[in-house]
Amino acid sequence: MACACSQEGCQEKTSQVVKGVHAKLRKKFREADGDFKKIWAEHCHDEAGLGEYAYAMQHLAVDHWSTKHQDDRIKWCYRTCMDYFKYGGMDKALAKDRRRQHHDFTNGITEQKSLSQVEQSNKYNTISLPVTGQLRLLDVGSCFNPFLEYKEFLSVGIDLSPAVETVYRCDFLNLQIQEPLQVAPDTVETYMRTLKNPVERLPKESFHVVVFSLLLSYFPSPYQRWICCQKAHELLQLNGLLLIVTPDSSHQNKHAKMVTSWKEGIEALGFKRCTYVKDTHLHYMAFRKVKLKQPRYTLDVGPDNLYIPQDFSEESDESVFCDSFNASKFDNDDVSDTFNELPGGDEEEWFLI
Ligand SMILES: C[S@@+](CC[C@H](N)C(=O)[O-])C[C@H]1O[C@@H](n2cnc3c(N)ncnc32)[C@H](O)[C@@H]1O
Repeated sequence: MACACSQEGCQEKTSQVVKGVHAKLRKKFREADGDFKKIWAEHCHDEAGLGEYAYAMQHLAVDHWSTKHQDDRIKWCYRTCMDYFKYGGMDKALAKDRRRQHHDFTNGITEQKSLSQVEQSNKYNTISLPVTGQLRLLDVGSCFNPFLEYKEFLSVGIDLSPAVETVYRCDFLNLQIQEPLQVAPDTVETYMRTLKNPVERLPKESFHVVVFSLLLSYFPSPYQRWICCQKAHELLQLNGLLLIVTPDSSHQNKHAKMVTSWKEGIEALGFKRCTYVKDTHLHYMAFRKVKLKQPRYTLDVGPDNLYIPQDFSEESDESVFCDSFNASKFDNDDVSDTFNELPGGDEEEWFLI
C-alpha cells in the first residue's frame, strides 16, 4: 500500500493512533476499578475506533517500519517453526524430556503424571513427526495476515478488527473452544480452510502453532493475557508451539524479572519455554505444550504473573510503535541456533544483544 501523505507526519500520526488506543484502554481499565469485562464490551462496540486502529497498525507495519526490519517478528516466528518442526528442534526437546524422566525415575521421583499423559495422548491430540501437510498456524490479532505468504503454513488469521479480507473477525477472549475434531489431518485442513466469518468457535487440539505477535500488551489486564494463554493451550496439540512477541525497548536486563514471571506463569498452564530472545525493541518467546491438561491453579502463580510495565506506569515506553523500530539490532542469522542445546543448560535460551 503506497502512503499518500508525507511520510514523517503520517508515521507519527499512525503510531499515535495505535499507542492512543492502548493508553485509552488502560485508562478506562483503571477508572473501572479493574472490571475488564465492562470496558472490553464497550471497546468491542467502538467499530469506528477499531477500524481506525486496524488501518493505522497495518499502515505502520507495512509502510513505515523500515523494509529491512519491518517483519523481523514474522521471520522469527517462521524460522522458529522451521527449526522446531523441520530441523530437529522437536526431536531434541523430546529426547531431553526422556532424559529428564529417566533421571526422575532413577532418583525415585514419581512418574505417575507422565505415564497418564502417555495413556491419554493419541494421534489426534499429539503432534508426531514428520508433520504431513502444512503447519496449521493460528495468528491471533493478525491484523493484516502476515503469515499468509508462507507456503509451509495454513495460516488462520483472526482479529477483533481485521485490516484485510483474509483475516476472520473474532474476539479471542470470547472464543468458544469446542470438542476436538479427531479426524485425519487433511480433514482438519479442510475445516480450517472453510471457516465461517466471524469465527466464534474453534476445535480443541487442532493447531501446531499459535502466534501472539504484539497482542498481549494490547490488553489492559493481566487476566486477559492469562485467558489468551489458556485458550492457546487448549487449541494446540501436544508438542505444539505458542510463539509470543511482545514490545520492550529497554535494554536486555531491565525487565528480566518480568520475563521470568511470564515464564513461570505460562509454564504453570502446561507449557515449557524452549526459546527466549531479546532484541532492541521486542521479547521473543517460544513455549512448547508439554501437558495435555492444564494443571490446577496454585496460589503463587497465576494471571498476575503476566504483568507488563504499562500496568503500573503510563510513562512506560511503547517506542516499538514509533520510528525507532527501524534501528532494530536483531540479526536473523543468530536465530538459526534456536533449538541447539547449550552445553549443560537445563533449557535452551538465546539472548541477542
Ligand atoms: C499491535 S496489533 C499487532 C498486529 C500484528 N499481529 C503484528 O504483529 O503486526 C494487535 C492486534 O490485536 C488485535 N486484537 C486485540 N484484542 C484482540 C482479541 N481479543 N481478539 C482478536 N484480536 C485482538 C487488534 O485488533 C490488533 O489488530
